[in-house]
Amino acid sequence: MSKNKVLVLDFGGQYNQLIARRIREAKVYSEVLPYTKAKEALATGEYAAIVLTGGPQSVYDSSSPKLPQEVLESGLPILAICYGAQAVAYALGGEVKPAAKREYGSTKIKLYDSLLFKDMPFDTTCWMSHTDFISNMPDGFKVVAITPSCPVAAMEDSLKNIYAVQFHPEVMHTPFGAKMIENFLYKVAKLQPSWEMSAFAEEEVALLRKKIGNDKAVCALSGGVDSAVAALLVHKAIGHNLSCIFVNHGMLRKNEAEQVEKVFKDTFKLNLIVVDAADRFLDRLHGVTEPETKRKIIGEEFIRVFEEESRKLGKVKYLVQGTIYPDVIESGLGNAAVIKSHHNVGGLPKNVSFDEIIEPLRNLFKDEVRQLGTSLGLPDYLVQRQPFPGPGLAVRIIGEITKEKIKILQDADAIFREEIINAGLDKKINQYFAVLTDMKSVGVMGDGRTYDYTLALRAVQTSDFMTASFAEIPYDILAKVSSRTVNEVACINRIVYDVTSKPPATIEWE
Ligand code: XMP
Repeated sequence: MSKNKVLVLDFGGQYNQLIARRIREAKVYSEVLPYTKAKEALATGEYAAIVLTGGPQSVYDSSSPKLPQEVLESGLPILAICYGAQAVAYALGGEVKPAAKREYGSTKIKLYDSLLFKDMPFDTTCWMSHTDFISNMPDGFKVVAITPSCPVAAMEDSLKNIYAVQFHPEVMHTPFGAKMIENFLYKVAKLQPSWEMSAFAEEEVALLRKKIGNDKAVCALSGGVDSAVAALLVHKAIGHNLSCIFVNHGMLRKNEAEQVEKVFKDTFKLNLIVVDAADRFLDRLHGVTEPETKRKIIGEEFIRVFEEESRKLGKVKYLVQGTIYPDVIESGLGNAAVIKSHHNVGGLPKNVSFDEIIEPLRNLFKDEVRQLGTSLGLPDYLVQRQPFPGPGLAVRIIGEITKEKIKILQDADAIFREEIINAGLDKKINQYFAVLTDMKSVGVMGDGRTYDYTLALRAVQTSDFMTASFAEIPYDILAKVSSRTVNEVACINRIVYDVTSKPPATIEWE
């Protein structure tokens, strides 16, 4: 194990994984551990530097986390952020005080001469989020940055290699933050930028192999990138002791089930169980039109099918899930078992007992999962795949779901996606798909009157899928999609383009 590794000690702040991510972006490997684990982590001798994170508490509260003494005793270079900075000041005999009011948001900052701020403008901005502040520095420290309301925005003891900043270098609103972290890593801690995502894969596979041993694991494969990458990692570690269950609920995109089977069974040789459950899902959805009821039924049925299949496998110790870091945040930090049903169809099976859940991607961001997928050899069309909701086309068919409607939507959606790709717009538009409305209108085809469905096209640009704007697709491309669709797909005689943003609309129609 290399020593080129940074220990991020977590004091409970909200940006902590972002700190680890920034360090990985600087090509240095980092691990986030709770501050209570400092002693055993440092005893391994594997770390070359320590970063202390922010946190919500006040150092002078008796119950608040204190700086573990092993941190200072280690003699390793330290970068302390926000609460971490206050914890260092407090531990070394400095003084921390509550400010009259919270300093929050983008703030002007003056940087002084410091290795930490090498090659940066002296006057810049940073992101602040604190109430307490360091009012008196410990002996040996000097101020290296100030803001109008923070006398010690940054301090250093360069002899001991301890640097402490009150602001958050890890967020985008601190424009010099990434550079500052690089300075800490390369100049202060003298680390080499040598870590790559493929190294993460190797380390993770070794860890998984050690942990799982000869036991069995099961994973629900959805065809999406997260579960695919999680499954591939575990497969690399334990081979055929991992079984993957792919539930085809019949509401996937055109040819999707076949593609998933081909890639994972033929190319990657995964132990893949494909369950064609289309009929039982359709039976349960018969006559259902209310969107939330549809989602609920699909979620429940999915769990049922998954349970049935995993029971057939006998005793399985581990359940593998493709939970990624944003899911962890949304479901409440540190609470691994709560998975939003919105994200993973159906959430967790309740009647199959697994001893443990394995989430190899829980510290990674989406783009990092994609990088990892590429380094594991996943083809581009899977790695770069746009998001697809767990309930599938069910939330894109308004009203009752029937076999006929699914076929109509699959065909129309395939044309829209094909034309977007042909026009080279797939890299610019974050999500694009067709929706089969429940509305019929009058049209004319040849000499005859038609009375057919209206198809809606939806395409959005977004960075986080929480807000989105509709994509400005050139008219000639819309015209091509329109004419191909009415000519090639039966039962559609009118096409509309959705020009609403989110909010007020959502991206999916249901
Ligand atoms: P909305 O429609 O809420 O969608 O604006 C935001 C993003 O979430 C996706 N989405 C889902 N993803 N399971 C998922 O895995 C779901 O049940 C689900 N519902 C919506 C949607 O496609 C969009 O990217």
